[in-house]
Amino acid sequence: MCGIIGYTGQMDALKVLLNGLEQLEYRGYDSAGIALLSSSSDRLLVKKAGPVATLKETCQTLDVESHCGIGHTRWATHGGVNDVNAHPHVAGKVTLIHNGIIENYHNLIERFGFQDSLVSETDTEVAAKLFDYYYHGDPVEAIRKTIRELTGAYAFCILFEDIPDQIFCVRNVSPMVAAHIDGSSFVASDVTAIIPYTNRYFVIPEYQIVTLRQDGISVEDLEGNPREPEMLEVSWNVEAAKKNGFPHYMLKEIHEQPEALRNTILPRLRDGLPDFEEDGIPDDLFRNCDKVAIVACGTAMYAGMVGKALMEPLLKIPVSVNIASEYRYESPLIDEHTLVIVISQSGETIDTLAALRLSRKYGAKVLSIVNVKGSTIARESDYVFYTHAGPEIAVASTKAYMVQLASLYLIGCRMAMVRGNFDREEASQFISRLSASVPAVEKVLAKKDKIKTAASLLAKAQDAFFVGRGLDYAFSLEGSLKLKEISYIHAEAYAAGELKHGTIALIEEHTPVIAVATQDHIYGKTLSNVREVRARGAFVILITKCGAEVPEDVCDLHFSVPVTYDQFTVFPVAVILQLLAYYTSDMKGLNVDKPRNLAKSVTVE
Ligand code: F6R
Repeated sequence: MCGIIGYTGQMDALKVLLNGLEQLEYRGYDSAGIALLSSSSDRLLVKKAGPVATLKETCQTLDVESHCGIGHTRWATHGGVNDVNAHPHVAGKVTLIHNGIIENYHNLIERFGFQDSLVSETDTEVAAKLFDYYYHGDPVEAIRKTIRELTGAYAFCILFEDIPDQIFCVRNVSPMVAAHIDGSSFVASDVTAIIPYTNRYFVIPEYQIVTLRQDGISVEDLEGNPREPEMLEVSWNVEAAKKNGFPHYMLKEIHEQPEALRNTILPRLRDGLPDFEEDGIPDDLFRNCDKVAIVACGTAMYAGMVGKALMEPLLKIPVSVNIASEYRYESPLIDEHTLVIVISQSGETIDTLAALRLSRKYGAKVLSIVNVKGSTIARESDYVFYTHAGPEIAVASTKAYMVQLASLYLIGCRMAMVRGNFDREEASQFISRLSASVPAVEKVLAKKDKIKTAASLLAKAQDAFFVGRGLDYAFSLEGSLKLKEISYIHAEAYAAGELKHGTIALIEEHTPVIAVATQDHIYGKTLSNVREVRARGAFVILITKCGAEVPEDVCDLHFSVPVTYDQFTVFPVAVILQLLAYYTSDMKGLNVDKPRNLAKSVTVE
């Protein structure tokens, strides 16, 4: 969480920083700030509670010439949302911005006697104090000494007042990338802030000290040895990260799903069968495991729930789905025969990363499904299966979920082939059905009006319930998360048969119930549960496969998805549920792309 950017070079630093902060705002939008240095004037600091737009407005009146500065957009962890707690923080000659959490900051305050001089409630200011404490003219030495004292995750960009044209950076866990082109050096939390200038960048290695100058960037380890970081290239351009005429990123990203699916599926097909040779994923990985543990957070974890419902009956081995924030503190029953599948759009979610590290400690092999190339999770996994969704900017995940599903289907199919659960013909049939999901998604996108009608009814609700059985339950979990996170309507998903064990007490006249019933073998059972809530006044929106027999008195609104095979209904169903959440939020006049209290990349525990 939190977005950080630093710039030194020939351009107007203020402009670069404000533009960069706009790109990074999805990482946090509680407050924003900048600090600028120049050799001819004093350090300039502007920080404001509220979004980047507020900071931008404040900066309009500034008359400043600076070519070196840092900027920050905050997702509050320590200390409330106000101007004082906003970054950058200043201590003596030091000005810095931080993404992460310094866990031992209380202890540091006491040990170094900072109690009386702190002005904010943040852990970051304590770090600033410590850097200043150790700074006697040698920035690298001060950084080395300071980070030895710190426990926790951090990405720091530091300015030293008497070195007005250089930026110093160091990180542990929290992400940070850097790039240099034509007299300009950049550092940022991720490449979205840098791609307007260059698509070549490097990930700052942990515990290495990076110095940005106008004429280049140097990297050294803690012993002072120069290091050559590995250069990476982003394959998408600045246009991909814009709204392209859509009112919100979320709507644009929902519409990008057919393309994202094609980009993720097609390059992995050879003769109509899944083949991961180009990904460097060997079949032995699938052959030699006796169970699968899927680990992820939020939407990615719900993709994992679909993966389990698909894979377990197909592969006939145990498949578990684990919430990364829990798993990381458990003693999981995994060993060298376990395939751990880690799923993460950003590749930076700290709980997922910790779960990955734990899994490897237990000897398990980790295959990660990741969208962001070169991210920490990708780099630390044994094998990576990249999804090709392109940049996902809206905080609520849509296209990343879609391609995570497709990846799990491809992996499930390849595993089934390798393990003898599928012969070639069965695998080829499975892949044709998976490929047919793409036009099914397109068809749903072409018929949005009815979804808008449903959303107008949902927008008035306080609570909503999503129900389904089997795979349908797994889709419902994601549907309810989508609705609650962007529309602020309390939404819960239940296995349909579980309602009458308590939750049905919450059903009143007009309570919306979204029932997903796309699985033939349990269709009748789900319809019975739907009747039970309808009898108690619920307003029922029913989603079935096309051709399903839907009795007239069973629902108030009915959607059908153009898919024949039960295993593949998730793709179009997901689009209906995403659009339902999107239009509900939009009709309520909410900030669809940046819902309150959230951030895109969760890099703190
Ligand atoms: C919800 C959402 C989150 C993320 C979760 C994991 O719409 O986007 O629940 O899925 O924070 O993030 P990643 O996939 O980046 O690890």
